[in-house]
Amino acid sequence: MLFLLSVYLKTFQMNNSNNSCTRKVVVVGAGDVGATYCYALAQTGLADEIVIIDRNPDLEEGQVSDLVHGQPFFPTVNIRKGSADDYADATLIVISAGSAQKPGETRLDLLRKNAAIVGSIAEEVASKSSEGVMLIVSNPVDVLTWVALKRSGWPHNRIIGSGTVLDSSRFRHFIAQHCNVDVHNVHAYILGEHGDSEMAAWSMTNIGGIPFDSYCALCKGCGSWDDVKKKIEKQVRESAYHIINAKGSTHFAVGLALVKITSSILRGQNSILTVSSLLTGEYGINDVCLSLPTVVSDSGIVKIVDAPLSPEETDLLLRSASILKEAIALLN
Ligand SMILES: NC(=O)c1ccc[n+]([C@@H]2O[C@H](COP(=O)([O-])OP(=O)(O)OC[C@H]3O[C@@H](n4cnc5c(N)ncnc54)[C@H](O)[C@@H]3O)[C@@H](O)[C@H]2O)c1
Repeated sequence: MLFLLSVYLKTFQMNNSNNSCTRKVVVVGAGDVGATYCYALAQTGLADEIVIIDRNPDLEEGQVSDLVHGQPFFPTVNIRKGSADDYADATLIVISAGSAQKPGETRLDLLRKNAAIVGSIAEEVASKSSEGVMLIVSNPVDVLTWVALKRSGWPHNRIIGSGTVLDSSRFRHFIAQHCNVDVHNVHAYILGEHGDSEMAAWSMTNIGGIPFDSYCALCKGCGSWDDVKKKIEKQVRESAYHIINAKGSTHFAVGLALVKITSSILRGQNSILTVSSLLTGEYGINDVCLSLPTVVSDSGIVKIVDAPLSPEETDLLLRSASILKEAIALLN
């Protein structure tokens, strides 16, 4: 009898402790980006629970049904519709809610509209006393990360923008394609704004551990390096425009970039990622969110890596920061 009681108590404790460390991801905004992220995340087994919230109840219902019908083919994960109460015990809250630019609507109109949407979601999350991490995806992501920070009142390590994680992966792709090497051997970072003023940190780029300029000198295959660099930067900057013209939205690569960020948070991996976060004096920049190489873990931002940029790169970063500051000022 005593033996049975102790087995029962042990099982109860195990179940309880499992519940208390459930990896719960809440996704707000189940459009193309949110749904693709959920689909990719479900296949990794990283999350125990994926909760989907969208202001369009039909879409919310449809996305959940479509995903749960795939459950026999995923690692075990509970996928369901949710509400604001789900923020309270979420490990990660991903905000991909927003509005697309309508005909006749200016970029500023869109900025104000999405700032209002993300700001009110961030406020609602904060009202539920969540201790999780908030990951902003909606565009313009750097400005909206700043808005979420101000509206939630959360410490800045727990609010992350997806920033240039996607742009950096595009950068790696185009370099790998140009040099005809495995993309996994290319380390390269796009910094600053996720947008037109982003900059390529060539001084930090290496192929198989060899700095890019030295690698090119060894390879000698492609004429003017400056022209090659300019061409690759242009390809990265214009990628989103090309894809949106061709199919309406970009969502596969960003979905995977979000899974990479999620993995570092849920597993406490200390990955170095070019996420967007609040700068507090780095390179002399303050009170603006942008992307720099950043250590990301279960508490969110662990630290921004003080990367030694060239003077030209530092100037480009400062320019990007001032463009973002101007955008923030437009909100007032
Ligand atoms: N950061 C990046 O790298 C990156 C890449 C691609 C797209 N994006 C951005 O992600 C956002 C979403 O893109 P998409 O293609 O999925 O758009 P979408 O229009 O397909 O989806 C947006 C969804 O948000 C929902 N929504 C709007 N307001 C809401 C609210 N208050 N609460 C809950 N749901 C709400 C809408 O109903 C819609 O389903 C856009 O802002 C887009 O620009 C960012």
